[in-house]
This record gives sequence, structure tokens and C-alpha cells, in this order.
Amino acid sequence: MDHSFAPLKNDLIIRAAWGQKVERPPIWVMRQAGRYLPEYHQAKGTHDFFECCRDPEISSTLTLQPIERFAGLIDAAIIFSDILVIPQAMGMTVEMVDKKGPHFPNPLRTPDDGQYAEVMNRDVDVSKELDYVYKAITMTRKKLDGRVPLIGFCGAPWTLLCYMVEGGGTKMFKEIKTWIYKYPEETKALLQKISELCVEYLALQVKAGAQLVQVFDSWAGELSPSSFKKFSQPYLAYIAQHLPPRLEEMGLEPVPMIVFPKGAWYALNDVCDMGYNVIGLDWLHSPEEAVKIVGDRPIVLQGNADPGVLYGSHASITETVQEMVKGFGWAERKQGWIVNLGHGITPFVNPEDLRFYFQEIHRLTKTEGQ
Ligand code: CP3
Repeated sequence: MDHSFAPLKNDLIIRAAWGQKVERPPIWVMRQAGRYLPEYHQAKGTHDFFECCRDPEISSTLTLQPIERFAGLIDAAIIFSDILVIPQAMGMTVEMVDKKGPHFPNPLRTPDDGQYAEVMNRDVDVSKELDYVYKAITMTRKKLDGRVPLIGFCGAPWTLLCYMVEGGGTKMFKEIKTWIYKYPEETKALLQKISELCVEYLALQVKAGAQLVQVFDSWAGELSPSSFKKFSQPYLAYIAQHLPPRLEEMGLEPVPMIVFPKGAWYALNDVCDMGYNVIGLDWLHSPEEAVKIVGDRPIVLQGNADPGVLYGSHASITETVQEMVKGFGWAERKQGWIVNLGHGITPFVNPEDLRFYFQEIHRLTKTEGQ
């Protein structure tokens, strides 16, 4: 496929993510392409979820939907895919069950059940297995035509292993807690294997056209401060430390790296030193406190309104935006902040209320003469 792309007309998020001062804070939201959009359901039709991920034409159409609906209000697209494509590439079956979420018919059970050895010993080729993602990224860059940058992503090793062991969403985390507290060495070996795949997968996404990358550690908050240090942090750090040299080896320019360790508020100080450029905050953080913890380190914060505010009144949305603008010190700093929600946008949100959120950010961060 041809990899020459139109120059960016809006590079705000790239400049902000590298820590530069910018004219206004860039905006995007996690899960901006998805179930809350009527056009998503229309385009998805009767296709299975992973079928959409595997079809570059559908995936790029879905990626562009929020960019088209909110033209001029948002500053980045995120490729339509899922974090669970890595377990699939590792040979595991993952289905998306309507209204229930992901389901692994054969999750990993114990390190000696045979499947563990099979997964550990398998020579996984993410260039081949996930070729459809790279095709979708390249096609999306073409269709974006430089409107906004495209974000690539992967799941963090810890979060991916949770799914591989639990077999789907969970509230108890019984299986993965059994693993970390009963089989810590086997757990770490698998986390290391996943980390290596993440580096290669992200590098290939950049090669295909991704202009920033985000690592989603959605289940980080299920760990204790001490277990986060053992089972999440080293692997997040591994990715941040190995991706830039891998890109260089491939003859590619570096891209800003974002990490989203959801729920691990206690670890923010350590997360600042892992090598990422941007840290995604969930809504458990007060922006003032987070800015203080970052101090003079060159870290950009991303977030962090409670997505639930979008079920509320416009007055509540305005108040939340005012608090965020103040909390991130925007008027004084003009840097260090990318606007997002504290987690993905949830189904049943009225997209027009999300539009109002975007408009309020624009209105309340506008500088004289802009
Ligand atoms: O717009 C975007 O952000 C890009 C697309 C995207 C999806 N999943 C599409 C999706 C991204 C970035 C993800 C990441 C992802 N997937 C995460 C990390 C982010 C987070 O929410 O913490 C996780 C944990 C998953 C795993 C996953 N995929 C779950 C738990 C579910 C079911 C819950 C849900 O929100 O529906 C999915 C399905 C999924 N991934 C949908 C979409 C649009 C819904 C599928 C459907 O029902 O049509």
C-alpha cells in the first residue's frame, strides 16, 4: 500500500504531546467511535465486532465517524480496533458477545494446563497476524487527508493478561489474583512475552501511519501499590523504553507515547518516570494534585472528566469543564494538558451532549484574539 500521506492541517495534539505551548488544549475522547453513535450501529449493521476490526474499509469508516460529526471540535482520531487483537494473535479465541462484552471460550487456567506452554512457546508474528490493523491504519490516514492525527493503541500487558486468564470482564478478578499470588514467576514470564509483542505491534502501527500511540491499562487499579510495581509497571516501562529504539531501527521518526493506567492513582509519581510523554488520568485524580505530583518533569496530562457527567445537565458539564480548566492551570500554563474523559465514553450518552462538552472546552480555553 502507498504510504505517502497529506501533510497535517491540524497538528495541535502532536505539539501538545511533545510538551510545547499551544494555542488551546487539544481534545479527543476514548471510545469516541462506538456504541453511543447512531451512525456506528448503522455502519456496523449485522457485522460481528471483530469482523469490523478486520475489515480496513469498515474500520476506517468507523474511525472517521466522530471526526466527521465533530469536525473542528476534536483534534485526533483513534483507530477502530480492540485491545484483544493481541490475545487473538497469540492464538486465543476471543468473541464479542452482544451486550455482554468480550468472551474467551478457553481462557488460561493454570500454568500446567498445557495451554500456557503452548501460548508461551508459540512464535507469534504480529506483522502477519495483525496485518489487517496496519492496512486499516494506512487506509484511515488516506481518508483523513491530514485533517487530524491518527492514534494507534494496544492493551497493557497486565490488562491483556487479566482478560486472557479471566476469560472476559470480571468484578472479582479471582482467576488473575490466583495467578499473581500463586504463580508469580509464570505470570511474569507471560507478561514479558506480551510486552515484547506490544512493542512490535505499536512499531508496526507507526510504520503503517499511526502518529501517536496509547497503551491502555484499564485494570491497573485492581492491583495494590506493591503489586502494581511487580505486575504492571515493569511491563509498561518496557514498552516505553523499547518502542523508540525499535522505531529508530526501522528508520521511523519517534511518536509521542501515552499511557493510561486506570485506577492506579497511587502510582502517578512512578508513572511519570516510566518514559511516556503523556499520562492519561481517570476521574479519581484531582487535576491540581496531579499537576503538583508531575512538578517540573516534562510530562503532559490527559483527561479527565467523569464520563458520567455526560448523563447530566449542561450546567453540570459547564461546571466540570470550568473545574478542569482551572485544575490543569490552563490560563497560566498553556501546555501540559490534552483534554479527554477519565475513561471511555459510555453507551446511551447523547452525542449532542458530548458536542456541548467539546464546545465548552473551546469556549472556556479561548484566548483573546483567537
Ligand atoms: O473509539 C475508540 O476509542 C477506538 C476503538 C476502541 C474500542 N475498544 C472499540 C470497541 C478502543 C480504543 C478499545 C479499547 C479497549 N477494548 C479497551 C481499553 C479501553 C477501556 O475501555 O478501558 C478495553 C478494556 C477493551 C475490551 C473491550 N472491548 C470491552 C470490555 C468491550 C465491551 C464493553 C463495551 O464498551 O462495549 C469491548 C467492545 C468494544 N470495543 C466496542 C467498541 C466500539 C463495543 C462493541 C459493540 O458492542 O458494538
